[in-house]
Amino acid sequence: MTILVVATGNHGKLREMQSYLTDLGWELELKPPEIEIEETGNTFAANAALKASGVAIATGKWAIADDSGLAVDALDGAPGIYSARYGQTDRSRIERLLLELGNEINREAQFVCAIAVANPHGAIVLQVEGICKGEILHSPRGTGGFGYDPIFYVPEAGLTFAEMTPETKRCYSHRGKAMALLIRDWGLGTGG
Ligand code: IMP
Repeated sequence: MTILVVATGNHGKLREMQSYLTDLGWELELKPPEIEIEETGNTFAANAALKASGVAIATGKWAIADDSGLAVDALDGAPGIYSARYGQTDRSRIERLLLELGNEINREAQFVCAIAVANPHGAIVLQVEGICKGEILHSPRGTGGFGYDPIFYVPEAGLTFAEMTPETKRCYSHRGKAMALLIRDWGLGTGG
């Protein structure tokens, strides 16, 4: 079985990626913590490619990376690629976002997820992006998921991400949509 290193230290993401990738017959391995790739790109796609390529070169193995975040319309797309750096904890990131948005009437937002797969030489062989549109609530709802999930409401589902089961989140989420594209194109990029 070929090893695929998951270029993340985020356990929430790893859990979701594992559930998506089990059927493809690759053995998933978590990135060694000492390998740190700086996210210096200006887009989710550029950062996903930097991480996948950097981890593949450092380990000499296939690598997959996801760069994702929340873009809020009324905040000109913030926190965007800085979603993880918006605060120290999930709670403080949510508090900051709610404070900055205040009583703004336009609550529209989208989660974006870019995924890149690199071969052991660091060349990017597959790249996809998924988007989920929703609204930012005035206060958190639900206990599941991670990150900004409790304040991200998906009107189509009538639920926040944090109120969804993992299976339901997979149907609607940016990562679920990106993963569906990745699985569709998998053989094209990896040769099997
Ligand atoms: P990065 O992709 O590691 O730079 O981090 C993305 C950040 O965006 C995470 O730390 C979360 O705060 C947030 N994020 C990404 N995907 C999700 C999600 O599915 N639910 C909630 N928050 C998310």
